[in-house]
Order: sequence, then structure tokens, then C-alpha cells
Amino acid sequence: MAERECTFMSEQEKIKEINNILKKYKFNNKDGVDFWHIINPIFFNENFQRRMEKDFPHHDDVSLGHHIVSDAAVTYKICQKKKYMAANIDKNTAVIIAMMHDLYTLPWQNNPENFQEYSFNGHGYRHPIEAIVNSIDWFPEYFEDKAKAEKIIDGVIHHMFPFPVRAIDGFDLELKNTEAYDKIPEDLKQMIIESSNRGLKIKHFSLCPSKFKEGRIMSFSDKKVAIIDDTIESLRKNGFKTFRGITALKTGANKNLDGYEEIQEFRKHRK
Ligand SMILES: [Fe+2]
Ligand SMILES: [Fe+2]
Repeated sequence: MAERECTFMSEQEKIKEINNILKKYKFNNKDGVDFWHIINPIFFNENFQRRMEKDFPHHDDVSLGHHIVSDAAVTYKICQKKKYMAANIDKNTAVIIAMMHDLYTLPWQNNPENFQEYSFNGHGYRHPIEAIVNSIDWFPEYFEDKAKAEKIIDGVIHHMFPFPVRAIDGFDLELKNTEAYDKIPEDLKQMIIESSNRGLKIKHFSLCPSKFKEGRIMSFSDKKVAIIDDTIESLRKNGFKTFRGITALKTGANKNLDGYEEIQEFRKHRK
């Protein structure tokens, strides 16, 4: 599925959606202004705006942009807790990791173009690599400071923990943004490769949490939002149909979304 122009929601509607997320997580005015200040350059980028559309779903019918900003909001709130304030957590960087963590290339459900030949290159394993590559491609200014760059890279690469990430080990990765990967600066590429090879190595995977607190906080927020908050919201809207979306995690096919019959046909023929 190629990048398409966003023609469905106005910018005002998208801003309203984010403000509703802030309301849900009980932001006061001051924190709301601060949060908008941090996310502004990423949120208003055309690639992010595209991911706010309903036809770029992440979990069931929650758009990718909605999921990402929810993670960023939860991350912000956790960083404000006394124990983290006392530990000098870099709140801005933690929120930026959240804003970048799932910026993968293509919608992953009911989309034949997002499939791969080898199961070890499945979307669940490879998308953190696509996300960090797109982030460096679209937002290079965040990677100029090398200490911050390492925190962001390691946070994005290991955000799925305790789920493993594809280790960059010389086998084809089947990335959907190979061209962007090929042209990122060599020092940043080395950081990505090293990060993806840290921790427990199992076949083509690496399993470990981020080595930085900012990344670990963000990874926790991701689980809270995806497993608890989004599920409750979806249950309210869709009832028990919600659970039909869970099999998509393994198959990439979601009965609750358009294109299900077509993707099942596609899967049958490629076996
Ligand atoms: Fe993810
Ligand atoms: Fe996520």
C-alpha cells in the first residue's frame, strides 16, 4: 500500500483527537501546553498526519497515530512521578521515543504488501527497525546529539520487550523501507545494528529491554496502552468482536477491518 494523501480528517479534527487523549489521561493546562510543545514537530509532519487516518489502523480500529500519541501521553505522565523526577529522567527524550516507536512503513493488517517471505522477518519482529529508520529519515535533527540518538535508537529498537526484535545479522531483513535504511548515516546505522544485537540472541532475534530508563518507561507505556487502555476502548465500541482482532497479531489478517476476505485469499495462495 503506497503512501496516500490524507484526505479524510481535517487538521482540526486531528488536534481535537489528541486533546481528547490528554483529557483521558487527565492532563492539566500547563502539562498540555508542554506536551504539545514536545510533540509538535513530529505530530505536524505529513508522515505522522497520514498515520492519524482511520485507514492506517494499529490495533483493531485505533489509528496508528492515536496509539502513538496515547503512548506518548502515558510516558509523559509516568516521567512526572516523583521517583522518576528525582532520578533525572529525560522526559522530553522519553516522549520522543514514544512518538517514533511505531513509525513503521505500511499498515500491517489485511495488507498483502506488508507480508514477508520468512516468518522471522514478520512485522512484529521487524517493525521497530523500520520505525527507527523512518524516524532518522524524516526527523534527522533529533539524531544530531549522539548521546540522545543512542537513547532514542535503543528505546525504539527494544520497545516490544518482552517480545523479541529482529537482530540485524546479515540475513535479508525484508524491510519495507530498504532505500531509507541504505542511506542513513553510517554512525547511526552502526548504533542500530549494535542495539539490535544486544541481549539474549535466539536464532534471528534479540531479547532484552532498553538499556536506558527512558526507553523502559516508554516500553511499559506501550503495553499499558495497547493491552489495557485500547482494549477497554475497543470493547466499549465493538463489544466482544474486539477479540477477533487478536489473531491478527499472528496472521496479519483482521476480521474487524476492510479487506479481510481478500487477505485470506492472498494467504491461501502463497502457502
Ligand atoms: Fe510496536
Ligand atoms: Fe506501540
